Amino acid sequence: MTRKFSGGELVVATHNKGKLLELQKMFEREGLDIKLSSAADHGLESPEETGTTCIENALLKAKFVANETGKIALADDSGLFISALGGDPGVYSADWAETENGRDFKMAMERVHKEMGDNPDKKAYFTSVLVLCWPDGHCESVEGFAHGIIVWPPRGVQGHGYDPIFMPRGRNLTYGEIMDAEKNTISHRADSFRKMMDKCFR
Ligand code: IMP
Repeated sequence: MTRKFSGGELVVATHNKGKLLELQKMFEREGLDIKLSSAADHGLESPEETGTTCIENALLKAKFVANETGKIALADDSGLFISALGGDPGVYSADWAETENGRDFKMAMERVHKEMGDNPDKKAYFTSVLVLCWPDGHCESVEGFAHGIIVWPPRGVQGHGYDPIFMPRGRNLTYGEIMDAEKNTISHRADSFRKMMDKCFR
């Protein structure tokens, strides 16, 4: 049976302040008064993301934090899956941008362009998995999607990551050209958050 969230406190399995803030705003918009803290606030390191799927990685992050803190933990994992590349970069989306000096998404987008070559299949989707785990090991998960196509050259300066080369279905603008407030209502993360609200928070 699905377990519902109870209590006013949630630890987010992230070290990313932006992600914590974004989630905080999403909970506030739902009218939910939940105190969020991050894994970093509890002095935890990030576990190595050794999974081969987004769900595996989100599960290992949420389980680790729930176990270490004794509190309910929420973790997310996301990626860009490109049809012509057999689903790459997928769960390795962040890895494709990794350099000695931090992440370089211009380089990652150029790799996408090079590997796609002149393949006419431009279909791609972003996925966002959200996992909620309790200290007793019980977990609930949801998956959100945003379907679209890959465009080249990159367009727009909004957002992050692969935003400038992803055009969501039904739009003529890339994620990089759509203002944040609007992206936050149509994105894969908005979809997974809505699904998590329906499943565990209402
Ligand atoms: P993670 O879920 O934070 O590990 O993110 C995985 C990677 O997927 C990010 O580093 C980005 O490369 C990519 N990604 C996930 N969501 C988005 C998005 O909304 N726009 C652009 N790239 C994204």
